[in-house]
Amino acid sequence: MISANTQTSITNIENGTKNKLQTADSPIHSWYQFVLGYPPHLVQQYLSKFEITRHNIVLDPFCGTGTTPVECMKCHIPNYGIEANRMAFFASTVKTDLSIDPSFLSEELGFISKSAELSFKRFKLNDSFPLISEFDSNKKPVALDEIPSLTPEQIKIIPAGFISDKPLQKVLILKAIINEIEDKKIRNLFTLSLASLIVRRAGNVGFGPEVYRKPAKPDVDILNYFISNSNQMIQDLANFKNGRNITQIINGDSRNIANCLDSTLLGKIDCIITSPPYPNEKDYTRSTRLESVILGFIQDKKELRSMKENLLRSNSRNIFINDKDSEYVKEFSSIGNLANEIEEKRISLNKDSGFEKMYHKIVRHYFGGMYLHLKSLKPFLSPNAKLAYVVGDQMSFFQTYIPTADLLGEVAKSLGYHIIDIELWRTRYATATSRRINENVLILENTR
Ligand SMILES: C[S@@+](CC[C@H](N)C(=O)[O-])C[C@H]1O[C@@H](n2cnc3c(N)ncnc32)[C@H](O)[C@@H]1O
Repeated sequence: MISANTQTSITNIENGTKNKLQTADSPIHSWYQFVLGYPPHLVQQYLSKFEITRHNIVLDPFCGTGTTPVECMKCHIPNYGIEANRMAFFASTVKTDLSIDPSFLSEELGFISKSAELSFKRFKLNDSFPLISEFDSNKKPVALDEIPSLTPEQIKIIPAGFISDKPLQKVLILKAIINEIEDKKIRNLFTLSLASLIVRRAGNVGFGPEVYRKPAKPDVDILNYFISNSNQMIQDLANFKNGRNITQIINGDSRNIANCLDSTLLGKIDCIITSPPYPNEKDYTRSTRLESVILGFIQDKKELRSMKENLLRSNSRNIFINDKDSEYVKEFSSIGNLANEIEEKRISLNKDSGFEKMYHKIVRHYFGGMYLHLKSLKPFLSPNAKLAYVVGDQMSFFQTYIPTADLLGEVAKSLGYHIIDIELWRTRYATATSRRINENVLILENTR
């Protein structure tokens, strides 16, 4: 096991700006992003450190909203992404599809804008309307007959107060109008623009980094925002119009790579740059819940649960009675001791909520899931493939320190990976403990 004091620091970028999207990187990346994501310059750093060129293949098995795939695409490096959250999978897919012809997009945007204006006016919804002459669209606009609504099952899974009635009505109208567009790729592009609008403009949500409810906005202008956001996307696409599609995103569970990747890729993946979830109390489905439900990626509790079942067990909201991932790390005394320490603290502190009783199980299932991931990944790696796993140390469970990169390194070593280094990416201030904790990059090499 590599101890924390063997870590090396990798760049001089200040902590505060280190995880931020830099302006030069914003095309495509900014279309829709996760607070939980890492920045494109991190991907650049490891592509260059590992000397990856367009003759190699890169995989991000936990690709989120596509930072690694988009950055590889920009560098013309063939790549794959795997993601279990349907909203994030959709975002990564749209962001890496360069096959849309940008010439039709302005016309379709004109159709959406005029149709939305007609519909908003019909239902007496105020907004600041763009000048119609802005668009030269020949497509006849439509006015909806009624305001679409969510089903009672959908409403149940949106946390209370995440969006107010009027902004919701406007967003649902825009969604119905976008669905009138015949071309699926064009529809998807504007749907992603709408996803971004829901989070950044229409909803009452903030991220800190956990998603939280902000004071309600009873009404908000959305149309001009949607248009300028979509125009930016169209512009980005036009700038990349000679791009070839070299990315494939798969909606799957990375604990079983053979179920996600085609067997023709056996022995062919040269590089992994990724950030799996960390063992803490972050529910990754909650961060994307509002837009996932409004856009129809999750219809009800059952679908939410089935999506959670495909995720690594990293928080108490996605632990299930039949979970068995812990079995794979029962020989690891370091993981077992840590889990026992958490459970002993819970007992001594008289904490007995259902969630708190899960904490020690999360640690075991989390590393068990990562064991399965690294084991199933190995046959797909080329000899000497290089891997970078960005993982944060954690203290969410009764302030017990979890050295995530060290423990993951131990698991990887048992599977025949060589640990090259654990590099410090940045430190984060944990308010609950008033301590700075490390976010590291575990660097591995595949050995045969
Ligand atoms: C830290 S985020 C990755 C963010 C990404 N690097 C970015 O920049 O957007 C981890 C991602 O792993 C996904 N995930 C969790 N368990 C998974 C699994 N078993 N298979 C595939 N994806 C999974 C989560 O849904 C989440 O999007």
